[in-house]
Amino acid sequence: MNDSLELAKDLVLTRIGYGAMQLAGPNAFGPPRDRAEAVRVLRTAVELGVTHLDTSDFYGPAVTNEIIREALHPYPGSLRIVTKVGFRRGPDGSWDPWPHDLRAQVHANLEHLGVDTLDAVNLRVAGPGSLAEPFGELAAMRDEGLIRHLGVSNVTAGQVAEARAIAPVVFVQNLYNLAVRHDDALIDALAADGIGFVSFFPLGGFSPLQSAVLDEVAASLGATPQQTALAWLLQRSPNILVIPGTSSVAHLRENIAAAGLTLPADAVARLGGQTPPQ
Ligand SMILES: NC(=O)c1ccc[n+]([C@@H]2O[C@H](COP(=O)([O-])OP(=O)(O)OC[C@H]3O[C@@H](n4cnc5c(N)ncnc54)[C@H](OP(=O)(O)O)[C@@H]3O)[C@@H](O)[C@H]2O)c1
Repeated sequence: MNDSLELAKDLVLTRIGYGAMQLAGPNAFGPPRDRAEAVRVLRTAVELGVTHLDTSDFYGPAVTNEIIREALHPYPGSLRIVTKVGFRRGPDGSWDPWPHDLRAQVHANLEHLGVDTLDAVNLRVAGPGSLAEPFGELAAMRDEGLIRHLGVSNVTAGQVAEARAIAPVVFVQNLYNLAVRHDDALIDALAADGIGFVSFFPLGGFSPLQSAVLDEVAASLGATPQQTALAWLLQRSPNILVIPGTSSVAHLRENIAAAGLTLPADAVARLGGQTPPQ
């Protein structure tokens, strides 16, 4: 059962969501190899009850959002599409921090997704430093009704506090998985305040998780390593949501099925509890 987390009355997200970055071409740049399969992946995610779809207009750019629109518009009432701004792509596919022209970035998302209001927008920051100016701009667009909810991504605890002093933050989206656990303290602090923590790269992203211990634990549970890694995240804290990405319907089904996997205490201990596996 893919449980949901209510982060606001109109923001109820399945804890296993879907991250759409893999629907663009390699390195999230250009068109996908198989657009029809990309459409099938999105429709299957919705059929399987996923209500949390993570995207950005800088995947492609615009490719992922346009495929989402083609596959799912008009959107089912329960679906929430979470996008992010703060970067742009160079002509060679480079990822360039771009905390400028945020209004244009928001409008590009509105246009490509085919909506009047964005369900939620993450400000994706490039590193430490003040986010007050760009986050303040997004807060103003929230007040105008262009955006319903705000989040921050790739941030420190200090940056989260800075954002929360400007406008409500419903979730933080950071890199966190079995092998990368720098955010343990932040996760617990956010849980105490009722704020979601969205793990991006839950399967390791461009560096797939590889661990003999993970393989052994997964085999002992009759699950795949990917399912075990997702189940570990869901058990790590009740405020964690995951957005595994895949370009394949078969992998999507496996990932969502991880909601039914419970890791016994000895499996969690073998995976290292709060510390990385050796
Ligand atoms: N906020 C940020 O800065 C940020 C940064 C990066 C990503 N994100 C978000 O996070 C989401 C997840 O990132 P991601 O997709 O790059 O990384 P990921 O979910 O950690 O891993 C995706 C990779 O794992 C493979 N995979 C997925 N399910 C699998 C399965 N069941 N068995 C075997 N392999 C499997 C995929 O290949 P196949 O296609 O072959 O399945 C793909 O190569 C993105 O879609 C994006 O929305 C956010």
